[in-house]
Amino acid sequence: MRKNIVAGNWKMNKTMEEAMLLSNEVIFMGSDEVKTDVQMIMAVPFPYLVTINKYLDKTPNIAIAAQDISDKAAGAYTGQVSGAMLASIGVKYVLIGHSERREYNNESNQQLKEKVDLALANGITPIFCCGESLELRQGGKYLEYVANQLKESLFHLNAATFGKIVVAYEPIWAIGTGLTADASQAQEMHAYLREFLVTQYGAEVANNCSILYGGSCNEKNAQELFACADVDGGLIGGASLKSREFVNIAKSF
Ligand code: PGA
Repeated sequence: MRKNIVAGNWKMNKTMEEAMLLSNEVIFMGSDEVKTDVQMIMAVPFPYLVTINKYLDKTPNIAIAAQDISDKAAGAYTGQVSGAMLASIGVKYVLIGHSERREYNNESNQQLKEKVDLALANGITPIFCCGESLELRQGGKYLEYVANQLKESLFHLNAATFGKIVVAYEPIWAIGTGLTADASQAQEMHAYLREFLVTQYGAEVANNCSILYGGSCNEKNAQELFACADVDGGLIGGASLKSREFVNIAKSF
């Protein structure tokens, strides 16, 4: 059975002091209130990973994630952070291919493929982000476009390795805009992607893959979104910066 996952993407927010407060509140409320079969994840800025990870010893259903990983293994790449570095500090998950990185850092499907491989080689689970722009949605070819993102960055993996991937569908037009995909739009894409995974990897692998929805997901709409047959949780931006709301979202299954 696939896992239900609620992952918070803090993006470039919070000072150290604020990050300690927010993470501690999430851990305190989350370990008390959220069902233990829901995996909670906080994707925090690099400087806070080590400190926050120390708080997580006794809470196996809460984990940290990095927000990016280098597409190179090691060497003269100033400013980059490698998979080996992340693994050495106990990071278990990493966001790969968030639309903000695709847009502002020109990350291509090919480059994301390298990132996926380096995460997996270091025992880190990729949360692979995909999604279409408003223009693509209005043009009508959005399903094929998103499926192609998976194909170009993930389909070189064999079935056993693909089994370690988490997918996050985030329509770009819904990120940070307050415009959420409604439940039927989310379900349409998630079901399409799962069917696409069936053709590549077979029903068992496809049915075991957690596919998260992201884009203005909040405590008010989470329940309806998570009730969709193929939505296995959320990747939460703005609402993950408020501990009470983030924990409420994790309680929405
Ligand atoms: P949002 O961001 O929830 O603020 O729309 C989601 C994301 O970018 O992961």
